[in-house]
Amino acid sequence: MKFGHFDDDAREYVITTPKTPLPWINYLGNQEFFSLISNTCGGYSFCKDAKLLRITRYRYNNIPYDNNGKYFYIKDGNTIWNPGWQPTKTALDEYECRHGLGYSKFKGVKNGVEANVLTFVPMNDRCEISRIKVKNTTSLTKELKLFSYVEWCLWNADDDERNFQRNLSTGEVEVIGSSIFHKTEYRERRNHFAVYSVNTEVDGFDTSRESFLGPYNGNDTPDVVTEGKCTNSVASGWSPVAVHQLNVTLEPGEEKSFVFVLGYIENDENDKWEAPNVIKKDLAWEMLDRYKTDEQVDKAFAVLCDYWTNLLSKYHVKSSNDKVDRMVNIWNQYQCMVTFNMSRSASYYESGIGRGMGFRDSCQDLLGFVHLIPDRARARIIDIASTQFEDGSAYHQYQPLTKKGNADIGSGFNDDPLWLIAGTSAYIRETGDDSILDEMVPFDNDESKATPLMNHLKRSFDYIVNHKGPHKLPLIGRADWNDCLNLNCFSAHPGESFQTFGPSEGPVAESVFIAGMFVKYGEEYAQLCDLKGDAKEAEYARAQVQEMYDAVLKDGWDGEWFIRAYDAYSHKVGSKECEEGQIFIEPQGFCVLAGIGVKEGLAQKAMESVKEKLDTKYGIMILQPAYTKYHLELGEVSSYPPGYKENAGIFCHNNPWVSIAETVLGDGDRAFEIYKKTCPAYIEDISEIHCTEPYVYSQMVAGKDAKFFGQGKNSWLTGTAAWTFTDISQYILGVYPTLNGLQINPCVPDGFGDFDLDRTYRGVNYHIHVSNPSNVQKGVSSMTVDGKAVEGNVIPFDSSAKDVTVNVVMG
Ligand code: BGC
Ligand code: NOJ
Repeated sequence: MKFGHFDDDAREYVITTPKTPLPWINYLGNQEFFSLISNTCGGYSFCKDAKLLRITRYRYNNIPYDNNGKYFYIKDGNTIWNPGWQPTKTALDEYECRHGLGYSKFKGVKNGVEANVLTFVPMNDRCEISRIKVKNTTSLTKELKLFSYVEWCLWNADDDERNFQRNLSTGEVEVIGSSIFHKTEYRERRNHFAVYSVNTEVDGFDTSRESFLGPYNGNDTPDVVTEGKCTNSVASGWSPVAVHQLNVTLEPGEEKSFVFVLGYIENDENDKWEAPNVIKKDLAWEMLDRYKTDEQVDKAFAVLCDYWTNLLSKYHVKSSNDKVDRMVNIWNQYQCMVTFNMSRSASYYESGIGRGMGFRDSCQDLLGFVHLIPDRARARIIDIASTQFEDGSAYHQYQPLTKKGNADIGSGFNDDPLWLIAGTSAYIRETGDDSILDEMVPFDNDESKATPLMNHLKRSFDYIVNHKGPHKLPLIGRADWNDCLNLNCFSAHPGESFQTFGPSEGPVAESVFIAGMFVKYGEEYAQLCDLKGDAKEAEYARAQVQEMYDAVLKDGWDGEWFIRAYDAYSHKVGSKECEEGQIFIEPQGFCVLAGIGVKEGLAQKAMESVKEKLDTKYGIMILQPAYTKYHLELGEVSSYPPGYKENAGIFCHNNPWVSIAETVLGDGDRAFEIYKKTCPAYIEDISEIHCTEPYVYSQMVAGKDAKFFGQGKNSWLTGTAAWTFTDISQYILGVYPTLNGLQINPCVPDGFGDFDLDRTYRGVNYHIHVSNPSNVQKGVSSMTVDGKAVEGNVIPFDSSAKDVTVNVVMG
């Protein structure tokens, strides 16, 4: 069942009922000001950091699930309704929500009044615009009352939901004309405040939540709206809100438009102490002046749309397959931007206060983002590397605002260092900018310890070399990519974090997955050493990679698949010797995509085992058989009920690893079959089962052991976005950036047909036509570049070229 449809021309998903199985959300904002917005206008805004600079309040774990947001109420006689249906839930005569790229549109129709809301965050500004147009489609005059509503968050979202003894006395607002200023905490910080304003005179306002709602009401029945009259309350402490009242008379056929702006204003550092407690309104007036008229709003909106058109033109495919084109050209790249911006911080499943930027997460997000805005990728790499420790290990997370490592979580996830190599290599392969390797980057944000980025990569590499266990495989530490595989956590007590270590932290648990990563990214490190002319280091790196390769084949192979790990007692994890959890997906995908066991014929076997033991119609499960018992020696993984999350869920993130592995082996049918199973466009029809948004990937789909087999959870913020984009764009469609230029090596399913690709790379526009006259799955028989035949399948890079035509013949 579907709850809407794709509109590819408009690049929108059109939701046709407010009653989606779960809130279906969108993200507004590209740089600093961000909003989450659901299909019923729920959500919140923040600037730069969802924890530290939260602008509006949202209650996670609410009842109903999604009922705080930025709302417009329309009072038409005795009928009160919202264009996005919530929170009054008054049945609408028509409803539509269109989630687009950085904007959402809502259309609600009730009793002959049509309301159209357009909401977006303009480029390079710290505000959100909501324009509402109300139209009278009847033949009688309408006297409407329109109310806006946002609830302020007292900035630190974590403190906001805990420290009531203080917070209920700190709220401060100021109302000037149609502008409501939120000033809480300005007296101590004196550097930021917020404003909510409308481009017309108001007929009333409220800023105290209690006055607006009434002491016993929720936001579905605000007293003020019922009465049709604001109380002009000025909040003092308690819960400040911002409400505008507009009395709107509409003649038959008449439409009026109002522009609301929710802005965040930051003073210059120097301004901080000049005028204590007096907010710098000039900056606000300047901002509001930028969006006073419809023309200004139209223009800002057009700039946003052009921005996306330009960004998405960097990788554009035209194939015979609409669903592939839709995902590649629109939604998958869009989700890559969102994961790049948010890492795993703020979604409807991540509260914005728990996790900031993940070290491994953000490095992987780069893989899907780097072609879009290489400069931002560059800056991100430096930020991430700045949280690394001198021994090569790293803070697992850092706070977006301060960019400092999160000491509560600390380090010890032994895969982290290698992801830095992955992200940096992707950046250099994309841009050719190897100057980044000479950039001076601190350790643990301590500038006195700055060293060239290349040294950071060496520390990453050597961290693995210096931390091996009894089988010469990498020590896993607190966990590797699989956060729940806490093989050294035998001291965890009930209620304690699995990743908190007691004194008995075991030094010996080993990860075959990290070994696979080391082979893959160790070789990429060696290539960077070559690029830098350091042949000695390259040779050393390759020798280490070879040792690791051998160690995997010796002690990481179980006969039919790769073992997952050795626990702290040196018992195998993910082996047929185990009672439960006999096979895990991660080492199969990663070892094979790294090329381990290909020439020995083992890789093929591993892939067959995945197909036989882990595959389902909704995707490949992370492990089988599911753990039915709690295993103290394995940690969090066995704490989940069978079929959910890391315990035999379909963890979408590592499905593309297997798909890529299949392309390494040349099986285009299987690679594509795996791609399709978790691909949003392909599972739109089962939205009632899948439940999460049909335009983006979810982190997890419940596995076959779960009650709700096929149900998605944790949509949006997942490494799945970057990895599936890598899979489809670089391996299946086969345009892979090497250090020397684009390599074209598609691996497609039977009957996929010819396709065309536009790819902007290092400033050159490539127009690539791939034909497949003999319908092969892999292999390039010839290639011409601007009409000239070239050897091999790497397009020689010529920076003086502007447009280059490439003809590729598979065969
Ligand atoms: C989840 C993991 C997640 C981790 C983050 C665990 O509870 O299962 O998916 O990565 O928390 O700390
Ligand atoms: C989600 C985390 O964000 C990611 O870092 C981790 O690799 C996966 N869960 C698997 O545990």
